Amino acid sequence: MKPDQGILSLFSGIAGIELGLAQAGLTNTTAFYESWAPAQDVLSTRFPDVSLHGDIVSLKNLHGATLVTAGFPCTDLSQAGRAQGLDGTASGLIRQVLALLQSGRPEWLLLENVPNMLHLGSGRAMAEIVTALETAGYDWAYRVMDSRSFGLPQRRRRVYLLASRVHDPAAVLFRSDRPSLRADGGATGAWSDAFGFYWTEGNRGIGWAVDALPALKGSTSVSIPSSPAAWLRSTEPGLRLVRPSIEAAERLQGLPAGWTGPAPIRDRWKLVGNAVSAPAARWIGEGLIEMPDSRLVEDLERRRLPPGSPWPFAAHRRGSTTWRVEISEWPKQPRGQYRHLSSLLRRYGAEPLSYRATKGFRDRLAGSKLRYSGDFMRDLNEHVALAAN
Ligand SMILES: C[S@@+](CC[C@H](N)C(=O)[O-])C[C@H]1O[C@@H](n2cnc3c(N)ncnc32)[C@H](O)[C@@H]1O
Repeated sequence: MKPDQGILSLFSGIAGIELGLAQAGLTNTTAFYESWAPAQDVLSTRFPDVSLHGDIVSLKNLHGATLVTAGFPCTDLSQAGRAQGLDGTASGLIRQVLALLQSGRPEWLLLENVPNMLHLGSGRAMAEIVTALETAGYDWAYRVMDSRSFGLPQRRRRVYLLASRVHDPAAVLFRSDRPSLRADGGATGAWSDAFGFYWTEGNRGIGWAVDALPALKGSTSVSIPSSPAAWLRSTEPGLRLVRPSIEAAERLQGLPAGWTGPAPIRDRWKLVGNAVSAPAARWIGEGLIEMPDSRLVEDLERRRLPPGSPWPFAAHRRGSTTWRVEISEWPKQPRGQYRHLSSLLRRYGAEPLSYRATKGFRDRLAGSKLRYSGDFMRDLNEHVALAAN
């Protein structure tokens, strides 16, 4: 893809995708479609020259774009969501985009969503999306990628699906593989002075992450979504259990600090939690410009994926064959470029976890069957005691 070719951004949010693409050199975003006023505030301030449209329902064609991006709503696809798949009113909006491919015929389409999209309803949503792509004459490839691979101290696993009718999208998405060298999936070079945790993953676990936070999430309610917390075990008592500031959260997504400043403060957490990590989009953009030789795909470890099989974490379709690809969620090894959680929080701010949040967390953890370290519980108890005074 050439730097001056047009990009149409759908479900734009705060443009994590388009910021990352611009950093790669793909700067020609020509229009945004975003219906939520706080996100529109950010878009109109950060991209004053790009035309801004509202509800996707008003989208009648794909604006002659070369690349269409859509990090579409996960509300009906995520584990914590309504689980209606593409029959849900929010996630189902992607059907409108897929229907327009027949007439709009962009060269490229980039979709992003949560990994649960692969599993929900035996993979029905995913099957519907790729069938629509194939019918419109597109090859496709997808890969689950972890934001830590791009140097961010946030364990954020997301599905990135790239489709094209002119090139092999698999060559872009599978062009490199640098599996994490640690058994716990932590980044190589991660420090063990900070750990992320919270009940962001239901009751199954506490989201434990070494030198990273578990994924930041938007919320479906109007209340301020609660961010995950960090345990800074070498810090002084009272400051060992903290929550990131909103600026730190923006940096955890690879956005400039203050990026969502134009939006009302109560909405900034949701905007950041909903966003695509900009460095992940940048890596994809670099691949679109570089356009690697599609023969590299033949050297990948891959097997035919029979129709109806469960969706693996990476797969692609070329011509009439679908392949399962054995590849990690780490396209890059961040070695040397990993932003350590403790230094990010020091630089961009964190506040002590409140008495209520710490006590609530501790009580629930103590009453669970989950395993945890004695040092962690000791610091939770100490923080509760200090915060109570
Ligand atoms: C997952 S977020 C996208 C995040 C975005 N890729 C980013 O990096 O910030 C989905 C977005 O779709 C928007 N949205 C939901 N329904 C919409 C509609 N009918 N028309 C336009 N935008 C919509 C939401 O307000 C939300 O900002």
